[in-house]
Amino acid sequence: MRWIERKGTKMRDNVLTRREFLEKTSVGLAAVSMAPKAAAVSSDPNALALNGGTPVRTKPFPSWPQTNELDEANILKSLRNHRWCTFDGEFIPKFEKAWAARLGVGGCVITPCGTHALHMALEILGIGPGDEVLVSPYTYIATIDAILLSYALPVFVDSDVRTFQLDPDDIEHRVTEHTRAILPVHIFGAPAHMGKILAIAEKHNVPVIEDACQGHLAEWRGKKLGTLGTVGCFSFQETKNLPAGEAGALVSNREDLIARAYTFRNFGLNPKGGDRYAVRGTKYRISDFAAAVLMAQLTRLDKVCAIREKHGAYLGEELKKIPGVMPQEHYPESTRQTYYCFGLRYDKERFSGAPREKVIKALNAEGMPINAGYPPLNKEPFIEDNLTSRGFRSVYSKERLDGYRERNECPHNDELCATSMYFLQQVLIGSKSDVDDIVEAFAKVQKNAAML
Ligand SMILES: Cc1ncc(COP(=O)(O)O)c(C=O)c1O
Repeated sequence: MRWIERKGTKMRDNVLTRREFLEKTSVGLAAVSMAPKAAAVSSDPNALALNGGTPVRTKPFPSWPQTNELDEANILKSLRNHRWCTFDGEFIPKFEKAWAARLGVGGCVITPCGTHALHMALEILGIGPGDEVLVSPYTYIATIDAILLSYALPVFVDSDVRTFQLDPDDIEHRVTEHTRAILPVHIFGAPAHMGKILAIAEKHNVPVIEDACQGHLAEWRGKKLGTLGTVGCFSFQETKNLPAGEAGALVSNREDLIARAYTFRNFGLNPKGGDRYAVRGTKYRISDFAAAVLMAQLTRLDKVCAIREKHGAYLGEELKKIPGVMPQEHYPESTRQTYYCFGLRYDKERFSGAPREKVIKALNAEGMPINAGYPPLNKEPFIEDNLTSRGFRSVYSKERLDGYRERNECPHNDELCATSMYFLQQVLIGSKSDVDDIVEAFAKVQKNAAML
């Protein structure tokens, strides 16, 4: 314990000393490994923590996922039911009904994860070898994996640097005779420009598969993400705003697609009964335990989302005031964003030319669990690994693959990937002072960037 000067007030700090903090916290452990080994503890109260100063924050942010007695009771109930699988589990049909109702959509089919929901979406829409899917390059790799698993080509649409979303004005010129779907990703829990995307899809008569894996309860013009396109896909992986360890779901207003999804998920078995395998399918069923947790998490989802939303909006407003800090922007038609992550870009010039990695290290040392954003997926080696595989070469001609390589450029996305950073959502679910700490840390690092 020690006395500290903070915001002009001398007060007793009831948290750990810097050394105790560094020894005891995981953020601190990261800071230990990142801090210059010989850095002396600075007597300058404004010195960056990276240079031996006092960190802005020594307390950890709230942890995630969170549980209470209801999660425990549901799990125990499911366990004691001895009906654990997709056919006879109590909680799976309950959750499918509840999630569809919460979104205001016709049907919901639970899957083992969001990646499988995306893959299943492509399968039930008949998209496969030889087809092209227009997709955002600023996403988690799962989105692209699902397309490649279907032996379709992911055609990357450039990003809108301000919103981090697929740029709707970059879609049209990438449409070809092989285009079979548009797959926008609602990145960080904020809506992609569904107005323009749906209009282009309609013009070219292709379905829209919404990757809403990060977009639980967020809205475009008052409608929930995942319900605007032909199908929507969700992830309930542990870090997500609605977590269950590992699980996902496909939703749609089209009864035929929901029926096809149920069939596909169950080896293509005739849904009307009997032992005949009606269509191509596989096993994308899950155990009841994840759904038991989801039913409990669902009771708290609205409350936590409201806090996250309030703090996310406040953080955005405050960070904007710091030179060189540019929070992710939202389209005016996006009526709700639920901040699976809080994303931002930095302007190197306003940070004395410091590279992003240095800025992140400095923020980590101030107690901020911030990370670099996504890499440019269109340039990652796994793309070439797929294109040169025996499977892809047997589907696509050399000319077609060479043409694909030539067109695979997204300069704005490169810029976004080089400058973006993000916090996971749990920094927003505590108190306002948590958010104030983030603002203070950014202001401190920006002001002292010349020392990096
Ligand atoms: C944008 C996006 N799409 C798809 C997925 C895949 O979801 P899952 O991890 O449940 O397979 C994720 C998961 O992080 C995601 O963030």
